[in-house]
Parts: sequence; structure tokens; C-alpha cells
Amino acid sequence: MKDNLKCLLFDAIADNSDSGIAVIDSNGIIIYYNQQMSEIEGMDHDEVINRFVFSVFPTFNKKNSTLLKAISTGKPVYNQEQQYINHKGKKIFAVVTDIPIVENGKVLGVVEFAKDLYRAKNLYDSINRLENQHIAYKKNDDPKQRKPNYYTFDDFKTQNDFLKGIIERTKRLSGSDSNVLIFGETGTGKEIIAQSIHNLSGRNNRPFIAQNCAAIPETLLESILFGTTKGSFTGASDRPGLFEQADGGTLLLDELNSMPISLQSKLLRVLQEKYVRRVGATTEKPVDVRVIATVNTNPLALIQEKTLREDLFYRLSVIYIYIPPLRERKEDILYLTNHFMNKYKHIVSGTPPRVSREVKEEFLKYSWDGNVRELENVIESVINTIENEEEIRLEHLPYYLLEKLKKPDLQAAHSIIPGSSLADTIETLEKKLIIEALELSRGNISIAARMLKLKRQTLQNKVKKLGIDKSEFLDLV
Ligand SMILES: Nc1ncnc2c1ncn2[C@@H]1O[C@H](COP(=O)(O)OP(=O)(O)OP(=O)(O)O)[C@@H](O)[C@H]1O
Ligand SMILES: [Mg+2]
Repeated sequence: MKDNLKCLLFDAIADNSDSGIAVIDSNGIIIYYNQQMSEIEGMDHDEVINRFVFSVFPTFNKKNSTLLKAISTGKPVYNQEQQYINHKGKKIFAVVTDIPIVENGKVLGVVEFAKDLYRAKNLYDSINRLENQHIAYKKNDDPKQRKPNYYTFDDFKTQNDFLKGIIERTKRLSGSDSNVLIFGETGTGKEIIAQSIHNLSGRNNRPFIAQNCAAIPETLLESILFGTTKGSFTGASDRPGLFEQADGGTLLLDELNSMPISLQSKLLRVLQEKYVRRVGATTEKPVDVRVIATVNTNPLALIQEKTLREDLFYRLSVIYIYIPPLRERKEDILYLTNHFMNKYKHIVSGTPPRVSREVKEEFLKYSWDGNVRELENVIESVINTIENEEEIRLEHLPYYLLEKLKKPDLQAAHSIIPGSSLADTIETLEKKLIIEALELSRGNISIAARMLKLKRQTLQNKVKKLGIDKSEFLDLV
């Protein structure tokens, strides 16, 4: 077959495959990334191409990356479940297969095939939750005892006066039937608040059902919410939707802004009329459901960009709760650090370690894009890995966090440094970028040069001129 035809054939297969496909060369540089992969991992082609794999996926290292395993062993890895985070903090849950490309015994690279498990997991979680609830109800005839273990407002820890005020007001309004809209970034405790409201309300012995609206195709989400009738589409059966199942209780709709606009109109109708019509049905049923919706972007911005209907916003935001991100409530960073240290201290045998001053200082400066969940994960992971130490120091923190902690320096170099000339500032910035590339490439000049789109020799010269000692970066992991 001619090379040209081979290329066209490859493109046709890769572009139309329903798997995500990425190719990594033997240095760990991503050299191919198809559209499906882009959807699974939530990143554009240009964001990842020619970048070193660890710089795009900060939670990976030599030990846990199946890709690097396939490169170093030359053996394929089949159907491995992987949960990881991309450099923007998005959680990815996929099944991957990594096939090394070997020529004359030398590994030239690895092709990775990935299937998204996030959607499936979402659906599975919903089914699981419903099933558990169903079992709980069947087991227990006494309605007062029919409650699963919901969060209560006591679980939401804060020292922030603004948030304390919001919690007090929300407690007072929990008993009403008003709908609720919660705005907060990922990991700020929206689910805790939603469950606490339900728990404190008169609906607490009726179901609490949560449904994430992201990554579910419109027609499927419509059937999940409103139910189906037999024959409404191939294979459809008579099935109640979540509105009917949550009757008398609370329905939490997570990431409402991911719900297609046309479905938002249907939701608005149900909220206004309090009647639901299953897909394909001709009649309607009355439902009594309190809806709590969450968004992770400012709802006013969402209305402007037309991903949230304004009339739906007004319907839902009768009780409006804003949870500021952790980085904007500094007093909570150390307070919650302490809280989670107490929560996980039983894991260590002997006296639990203290958190050192340097770690506290870095925690206060860090951006915490994953908010309280990220802080909790960091503490849990440090406590699980630390051995016989009196103090948690910087070196005990997860690798990805140490990498991110270096970033503010780079930002600082973008601004004007008093008393410094433009040339000096550029040199400082250049030096920092080169150091970052060398750290990510473990001191490998060729990889660092590709990341910076420089010739190898040019980078070599700059490293010498700027007095950077590349041996410092060898094998950092
Ligand atoms: N104020 C808080 N006090 C104690 N723990 C908290 C607090 N906020 C969040 N957490 C912890 O962080 C985790 C994440 O919280 P939660 O699931 O409620 O966040 P979320 O806002 O719903 O996130 P997402 O948008 O990703 O769904 C919780 O399991 C809890 O352990
Ligand atoms: Mg949530």
C-alpha cells in the first residue's frame, strides 16, 4: 500500500472510531490525539499535542501510568480502568488499552485506545442510589426510620462569616418548599448543602435523588427525568422518571447548565405546572418535588452566554446559595486542614504528624481549583503515605501539587518588576520556563526542547548561558 493511502486510511479509521485514540512517542511526547479523545479528556488537540504526557496529566507518574509502562516494557496493557485528572482539574474515568509500536525490538511509541467510563459511571451511580433507596424503603416500614445517612449542616465546616450567614439563612428556609439554586465551583460542598436541606425539611422521610446533567445525551436525560411509556421508542418500557420517583421528596440536579436549553424548557414547565408527562405519553401525572439545582459557573454569566434559561433561573433561585471558592476564604484553608488532619489521624499508628509552617504557607498561597475536595484528598493521601514523621513538610505533598505550587512564580514574572529592565524580566521568565520544561522532562534536553519548540542546540546554549544546572532535574520522580 502506498504511504499516502496508508495515511488517509489511518485518518479515516482514527477519526471515525468511537474510541479515543492518542499516540505517544518513545520520549512520552503526545504526537497524535483524535476528536473522541479530546471529548473524553476535555482538552483541545492543540492543548496537548507536542506536550510531555506528565505535563498534561499531573497525577500520573512513572509508577501509575500504563502508557509509560507500555513504553518501558514493550508489552501491551489491556482494558485497564484509570481515574486521573487533566491539567485543568477535570476528572477522567476511562478504560484504556495501550499497544506499543515495536520495530526491530525497539519501542517507537505507544497507541492508546480509551473508552469513556464517566457517562456509564454516572448512570450506574444513579441506578445504584435508586436501588439502595428502594431496598431501604422495603426493609423499613416505619417512615421515621426510612432515612439513609444524609449529610447535615453540621458536616459543613466553615469559619467564613459570609458563609456562616448563608448557612444560618438556609437552615431557616429549609422547611419551606421553595426550589434552591446553589452556585459553587467543584468540590465546594454543594452536595453537602443539598442533602442537609433535604434532611432538615419535612420531606426527609421521602426520597432524595441526585442526577448529574452533564455528559448525558438529551433524549436519554429526558427519559431519565420524566420517564417513558411502552412503544415511545424502540425498546422503551413503562418506566417512571426521577420526578415520579422523588415524589414528595427532593431532586438534586447537578450541573444544570449542561442540560440542553430545550430540555430546560420542559423542566421549567414541570416546575410551574407540577405535572409530569412521560416521554410518549398522552396523559400527565401530578408530582410534588422540590428541586435543588447546582451550577459551577456564575448563573448570570450562564444566562448571558445562553446556556441557562433566565426564566428557569428565576424559578429555581427562590433560595440562592453562593459558596465562594476555598482560595477566597483563606481562614477556612487552615481550619479545614486541621479538620481533615483530625478526620484521618487514625490512619497513622502512633502520634499523628503536625503540619509544618512551610506547608501552611504554601496552602494559603495555592489556588485550590478542586476546592475542599482537593484539600481533603491531599491530606488523606499525605497521611496514607507518610511514615514515622513528626511533621508534614513540602516534600511529602503529592507531586502534582508541588508542580502547581511553582506556577505563581511564573505569573509574577509576567508583571512589571520594579527596578528591572524589560530585558532582565524577559530573561527571568525565559529561565523559569526552561527550568519548568527541564523539570517536566526530568532533565532530558531533547524533550524539553520539543516542549519549548526550540532546536536542541539552541536550548543547550541557553541552558549554559543562563547558568542552569540540568543535572538537578534528572529523575525527579
Ligand atoms: N465545608 C466543608 N466542610 C467539610 N467538608 C467539606 C466541605 N466542603 C466540601 N467538603 C468535602 O469535600 C467533598 C466534596 O464536597 P461535595 O461533593 O459536596 O462538593 P460539590 O460542590 O458537590 O462538588 P462537585 O461540583 O464536584 O459535585 C465532600 O465529600 C466533603 O468531604
Ligand atoms: Mg456535587
